[in-house]
Amino acid sequence: MKLRRRPHVFVTRLIPERGLEMLREHCEVEVWPDELPPSKEALKEKVRDCEGLLTMLSDPIDAEVIAAAPKLKVISQYAVGVDNIDIAEATRRGIPVGHTPGVLTEATADLAFALLMAAARRVVEGADYVRAGKWKTWGPTLLLGADVWGATLGIVGFGRIGQAVARRGVGFRMRVLAYDPRPDEEAAASIGVELLDLDALLRESDFVSLHTPLTEETYHMIGERELKLMKPTAILINTARGPVVDPKALYRALKEGWIARAALDVTEPEPIPMDHPLLGLQNCLIVPHIGSASVSTRTEMAVITAENLLAGLREQRLPHCANPQVYERGRPSE
Ligand code: DGY
Repeated sequence: MKLRRRPHVFVTRLIPERGLEMLREHCEVEVWPDELPPSKEALKEKVRDCEGLLTMLSDPIDAEVIAAAPKLKVISQYAVGVDNIDIAEATRRGIPVGHTPGVLTEATADLAFALLMAAARRVVEGADYVRAGKWKTWGPTLLLGADVWGATLGIVGFGRIGQAVARRGVGFRMRVLAYDPRPDEEAAASIGVELLDLDALLRESDFVSLHTPLTEETYHMIGERELKLMKPTAILINTARGPVVDPKALYRALKEGWIARAALDVTEPEPIPMDHPLLGLQNCLIVPHIGSASVSTRTEMAVITAENLLAGLREQRLPHCANPQVYERGRPSE
């Protein structure tokens, strides 16, 4: 369906061109040009006349921002996670929120496995060692790490990404365990994964990889108690959301040897400040939230985000909606 006039859309960061082209064909598009997100004040100003808003996970879209956008028909998030958006408020206002599930599953699982391997075999330390001119000869005890093959991998959160990581683990001949409050038993059986409760998984795993969304229930779900249950040789990988792990407890765990290493794609806060104690630890590898950062995945995410946004502007059901409950009743009158 063609839009009768060209609605105004605000895009909070430059996304791959294919998505922008799709929007420009039908809408007046304004793109925030900076690398850093717009401030709250700037965002409120920009959304004043908007019918469509395309957001990043680094844009806090709270009730105040939503209230500043009286014409808003749709929010389309360039991510699968929507924990930065006040979903309850958007739903109350009758605004569907789009997101990008599925398309980034394999890329994120690849990164989780890359972090797992890099931490196990101390790849970044090795590269730093060479660059620092320390490589004088082959060393029989130089940079010894942990075996990946044959080890036990514990997946916390057995949804799409958790399952994709599990498949990689099976490919590496690992024993794979998973914990999920609502486990998919069929998927577990077909991949060859044992379902366990969280404490048992933490006790038994050599690698623990986190794949839960951030919710009130998962906030700091890996804290002091959980880290102390893990093996002193264990490696923690987080490609989910930073606040799933309590950073103070993680610092102590790494410093005091409750666990051996951590590899993080996500942190709390994000970005991690340069004076954060975790950055001072050799056994903590941190990369800047790049789980979905492959050229094809990010391009596909731009297309899906544009499709969600255009559907919302046409008052059609979003192909990927994070708050389907919005369709359970008519749009409320304000
Ligand atoms: C997401 O989509 O939620 C990832 O964290 C970034 O792609």
